[in-house]
Amino acid sequence: MRVLVVGATGTIGKAVADVLAERGDDVVRASRRGDHAVDIADPASIRALFAKVGWVDAVVSCGGSAKMGALETLTDADFAASIANKLMGQVNLVRFGVAHVRDEGAFLLTAGIFSQRPPAGVPAAAMVNGALESFARAASKDLPRRIRLVTVSPPLIHETAVAMGLPSNGALSARDNAQRYADLLHGDQTGQVVYT
Ligand SMILES: NC(=O)c1ccc[n+]([C@@H]2O[C@H](COP(=O)([O-])OP(=O)(O)OC[C@H]3O[C@@H](n4cnc5c(N)ncnc54)[C@H](OP(=O)(O)O)[C@@H]3O)[C@@H](O)[C@H]2O)c1
Repeated sequence: MRVLVVGATGTIGKAVADVLAERGDDVVRASRRGDHAVDIADPASIRALFAKVGWVDAVVSCGGSAKMGALETLTDADFAASIANKLMGQVNLVRFGVAHVRDEGAFLLTAGIFSQRPPAGVPAAAMVNGALESFARAASKDLPRRIRLVTVSPPLIHETAVAMGLPSNGALSARDNAQRYADLLHGDQTGQVVYT
């Protein structure tokens, strides 16, 4: 499969891109500063990426960000940025990418466990994650040519926990998380939210 991985330099995305490449997929790596530059917060940048990359069998999105912070500290700009980046960035990867994905291809988007088990201080991120879950359930029913759409919701990843000085015992490694993305990509699920 030819797979476009967006966010391929990140903790989750690099492991996904590496595992897919090891499994024999032809991986096209994209991010703001990658070989294939894209800023998913900018719709024109996403359109330009697909025009450059051409046909793919799948798009795996592990990019985008949402603002952390307690409800009373988050500004209008923080909410708008979270929606424009992690939410609409990934929604637009599907909207603009569908014309470039082959029959029976797939989209995997990345949300996160804050939608289901939020600590204090994450309402913007949790809101975006919940919206991505609902988007997959609904939009999967509208996709043509048996193209699949799954939203993946990882837990706190081991490497991230270590980097943030948080308890990491028993946390899922980026590589084990990536194996689950790869299994999903080569499976037949659609419309689901998959908690890795
Ligand atoms: N790590 C965790 O524990 C965890 C758990 C649950 C959910 N998540 C979610 O998973 C996603 C990836 O997390 P991560 O830990 O891998 O993050 P990360 O290490 O910060 O990597 C983010 C990746 O996305 C790219 N990126 C960021 N903004 C972008 C944009 N506007 N357009 C295009 N590419 C962009 C970055 O590369 P450039 O800087 O080159 O653009 C990088 O490749 C995030 O949405 C995060 O909320 C993470």
